[in-house]
Amino acid sequence: MSRAWSISQKQKSIGVFDSGIGGLTVVHALMQHLPSENITYFGDTARVPYGSKSAEVVREYAFEDTRFLMQQGVKIVVVACNTVSAVAIDDLKAQFDIPIIGMIDPGADAAQRATKSGRIGVIGTLATIASESYARALHQREKSYEVISKPCPLFVPLAEEGWTDHPVSQMVADEYLSELRQNEIDTLILGCTHYPILRRVIQRSVGEDVTLIDSGEAAAREVEQLLREEDLLNTSSDQPNYSFFVSDVPQKFKQLGQIFLNRPDLRVTKVHLA
Ligand code: DGL
Repeated sequence: MSRAWSISQKQKSIGVFDSGIGGLTVVHALMQHLPSENITYFGDTARVPYGSKSAEVVREYAFEDTRFLMQQGVKIVVVACNTVSAVAIDDLKAQFDIPIIGMIDPGADAAQRATKSGRIGVIGTLATIASESYARALHQREKSYEVISKPCPLFVPLAEEGWTDHPVSQMVADEYLSELRQNEIDTLILGCTHYPILRRVIQRSVGEDVTLIDSGEAAAREVEQLLREEDLLNTSSDQPNYSFFVSDVPQKFKQLGQIFLNRPDLRVTKVHLA
């Protein structure tokens, strides 16, 4: 049963964090699904990438990122980073007394709804794929699923370079994804914040009949459902407030963020995590 929340509780922000800029794909999905919600974002641009680091270090960073958002007074934390979601979500849920939503379960649920053949591909960072979190989540839903996983580390710099539909990105995608194509998957989970940016080359590479699952998009729906169930949706008619914090100089984040979110007015502040 949901608690009776005060108006000020409902007006608190949705907190979102990522290792850097990639989580803005999740922010974009949240803005689409929940246009009245305030959003506070933290991008750990000083320590990105997380995907090539050990689970131990990623966990440590994730604790600091979550603590920072809690200090901002958010009502829920969305772990936009798939790497953190893959290696640290249970630790975060155990440690912090606030609803926390990661990317793995929403992505696996969406894949389960989409697949017909039960042959599901998963792509992500080295750490995400090594953790086997998506494969585990899929097998919890249906033991007979054939899951074919592949780390695609070069996709992150290609997306950050803005090479969304570039021949080099296509070559890299064709190389990484040939095994998935040969395995005749019918569904592919984009298990990294950056991969929706390369959606077109990925789709071309695996074939038009493969359903691409954007975990961030799926998570945004889950956030909406959770806020509704908990009676925590912001009912105010004020313009939503969006605040962005980063741990390194904000210029590049601001530039890319304005393009990603199609907003010329992004307020980005550099902070130092204590
Ligand atoms: N945000 C990371 C993820 O979704 C990708 C970038 C990184 O390696 O930090 O896994």
